[in-house]
Amino acid sequence: MKQRAQGAPRRPALFARIITLSRKPRSVIAIYAGSFDPITNGHLDLIQRGSRMFDRLIVSILRNETKEPLFSVEERMEMLREVVDVYPNVGVDSFHGLLVDHAAAHSATVLLRGIRAISDYEYELQMALMNRRLRPEIETVFMMANEAYSFISSRLVKEVFSLGGDITGLVPPAVEARLHRRLSKIKRRGA
Ligand code: PNS
Repeated sequence: MKQRAQGAPRRPALFARIITLSRKPRSVIAIYAGSFDPITNGHLDLIQRGSRMFDRLIVSILRNETKEPLFSVEERMEMLREVVDVYPNVGVDSFHGLLVDHAAAHSATVLLRGIRAISDYEYELQMALMNRRLRPEIETVFMMANEAYSFISSRLVKEVFSLGGDITGLVPPAVEARLHRRLSKIKRRGA
């Protein structure tokens, strides 16, 4: 390590911070976080495109004890692994606590987010600015959702499916099969 010459002034903290912020990492790791309850083709499209942009992309499920999900975190991780298996630079994990801390723990410098419509913008802007305030060295990168999937959300998919609507093409086939199994289990329990 380079020694500071005796009597030489210490590099000001702000200057060191600017250097850190302006240095491009050798390998760009991005985190794509969400609930993924369940993963939709809209998410998958973003993962596919993100895998081409970043050296590594980690799809991270938020462990949120306050929400009652349809699928457990472990089931969601299994589903995600099934569908991202074809992308060698994409990994799957889960986290709790702050997203930026999770990103820093993985040496990630990018948070990948998808924007479907203008209605997503305000929430996304708030999150991006808060995350920047928490850790300015981590950048939020937005990608526009593919127009073919811009109306899809996990919530809508679950609602339509539970009411007997056709969700073919909205979620990966493996996820659709799991939804069928989950719905018949719920129906059996309710019968
Ligand atoms: O796709 P989602 O479900 O809207 O994702 C929201 C998510 C997981 C990205 C967001 O809730 C989050 O980052 N939660 C972790 C807690 C956190 O860091 N909160 C401050 C964000 S500004």
